[in-house]
Amino acid sequence: MTDRTPLVAANWKMNGTLATIRPLLAGIMEGVREDCIAEVAICPPFVYLAELSAMLANTEVRLGAQNVSQQASGAFTGEISVAMLRDFACHYVIVGHSERRHIYGESDNDIAEKFAAAVAGDLVPILCVGERLEEREDDATETVIARQLDTVIQHAGIESFRRAVIAYEPVWAIGTGRNASPEQAEEVHEFIRLRLARHDDACAGAVRILYGGSVKADNAENLFSMANVDGGLIGGASLNADDFVSICRATR
Ligand code: PGA
Repeated sequence: MTDRTPLVAANWKMNGTLATIRPLLAGIMEGVREDCIAEVAICPPFVYLAELSAMLANTEVRLGAQNVSQQASGAFTGEISVAMLRDFACHYVIVGHSERRHIYGESDNDIAEKFAAAVAGDLVPILCVGERLEEREDDATETVIARQLDTVIQHAGIESFRRAVIAYEPVWAIGTGRNASPEQAEEVHEFIRLRLARHDDACAGAVRILYGGSVKADNAENLFSMANVDGGLIGGASLNADDFVSICRATR
């Protein structure tokens, strides 16, 4: 079995101010210093990347962004490029979060372009995939996830997944308090791995697949105990240092 270091990534979304993120990050850094085998990453809002970059210098905790433009530079008001993220020592970038897909209308194609731009610029994309409630109820979960993945594979190539992380985030579980059961998550994670294995077995075996969607301190251990669940992408619970640290410690 491939050795996949678990990853727990915080997605702070559009939350916090300087006054609240400083103590939050300090609490997380203090808590993950011991008893944590997982790799830990924090994805703050863009405007706090500089602050976090300074606070995280010379620590093991990695920095990530929540989004990135597929364009390198130019007249794209309000957008942030890969090179800009690199300037602040970002390692990861979330692409294709369901809030980007469904609130801001990002298409599979936009997301594939962002993924390719991130890999080309030496960032590690955390590619989010996941079905909506009506799609699950229509038995279309695998069809939706296959389409989301295949667009990226076609555009960026399977080898780009050597430098990528995937997050399975069922839309019905995000911020709702209703998490997928460990078995439901495992079923989809296995499907994702098999889908990649059609192109490249070794790459499929090595890629880390995180689960996201209402992961809390009290359900993390069961979710992370599944064979194909390699950590989590944590929204709400990452805004509380104690909760997030408990989740980081729940990986084995
Ligand atoms: P949640 O969000 O943990 O608040 O459900 C997860 C995510 O959207 O990445």
